[in-house]
Amino acid sequence: MGDKKVIFSGVQPSGKVTIGNYLGAIKNWVSLQDDYDCYYCIVDLHAITVPQVPKDLRRNSLELLAQYIACGLDLEKNTMFIQSHVSAHAELAWILNCMTYMGQLNRMTQFKEKSKKNEANLNAGLFTYPVLMAADILLYQTDLVPVGEDQKQHLELARDLAERFNNRYSETFKVPEPYIAKVGARIMSLQDPTSKMSKSDENENSYILLTDTPDAIRRKVKRAVTDSLNRIKYCDEQPGIKNLLNIYSKITGESMEEIEQRYEGEGYAKFKKDLAEIIVEELRPIREKVEDLMKNKDYLEKVYMEGANKAERAAWKTLRKVYRKVGFIQKKFK
Ligand code: TYM
Repeated sequence: MGDKKVIFSGVQPSGKVTIGNYLGAIKNWVSLQDDYDCYYCIVDLHAITVPQVPKDLRRNSLELLAQYIACGLDLEKNTMFIQSHVSAHAELAWILNCMTYMGQLNRMTQFKEKSKKNEANLNAGLFTYPVLMAADILLYQTDLVPVGEDQKQHLELARDLAERFNNRYSETFKVPEPYIAKVGARIMSLQDPTSKMSKSDENENSYILLTDTPDAIRRKVKRAVTDSLNRIKYCDEQPGIKNLLNIYSKITGESMEEIEQRYEGEGYAKFKKDLAEIIVEELRPIREKVEDLMKNKDYLEKVYMEGANKAERAAWKTLRKVYRKVGFIQKKFK
């Protein structure tokens, strides 16, 4: 375990998990788990940057843990935990906040987008959100962060803060690298293939959830926006088809050429019908396993308790160093 490189990543429990989250992030985590020392977090502190109903947040957090497991993350190989259980995240975030320039945060595209949507609740947490994310990553001396493309800019900030701290105080943090897969890193809305698929979208036909029933999946794929060219080709001119091809290829592992060839001369109806079944079969075992796991709360509790214990030890090692370097007096225990 000790010699392996470290991976850290997380998902917000702010609603239901979409196939965007699954194909852009979680599915990749599963394939990395054998070769790395992995920390996968349920980032509840991040989730409250937009209003949450407390009982829903609790349920979504637990369901997200069940989804991590159901997607294939092995308990023996990964540390799965809840962010608010390890207080070092909030503590390091404060220190990094004191080193982050307002201008840097002002440039974050996700903040700009989210602040448009949440004008009535434009809170400071939403603004400093990427700093908390940097703290998450840097606490574990992370080498690699597997995420979807939308998180790239946030990762650059994490790298920048690591370097700034190291330069100011001496070598402390590992500078993390993003891991963004070639296929599936940006799954688009099924209703508007020029914008990202998002769990906060008001139109439920725009996304597929890991918990969707087979019928819901079939209906949503059937309604997915395409074009009138009537050919299955992976190109920018056909963003709807391009997106569906991305989903197809990420799930089956087949190349775009193989898929294009298979559907040469075929209409969209056949392609969509096949794709719907591919998604249904990919998600069926996950949905069933999640349902089982949610009936076994004791087991989930055991997983997140063990996860927090292990994460806390690793995080504390880094935080202790940071506190010393910035000049805090070491806490003494009686
Ligand atoms: P979140 O919860 O928005 O998304 C979780 C992961 O899913 C990816 N993703 C997508 N990938 C492809 N297509 C999409 N349409 C799509 N939508 C989302 C995201 O890129 C992400 O990898 N800030 C993070 C959570 C976070 C985090 C971290 C991640 C907090 N701390 C530390 C990595 C490391 C977020 O909001 O993810």
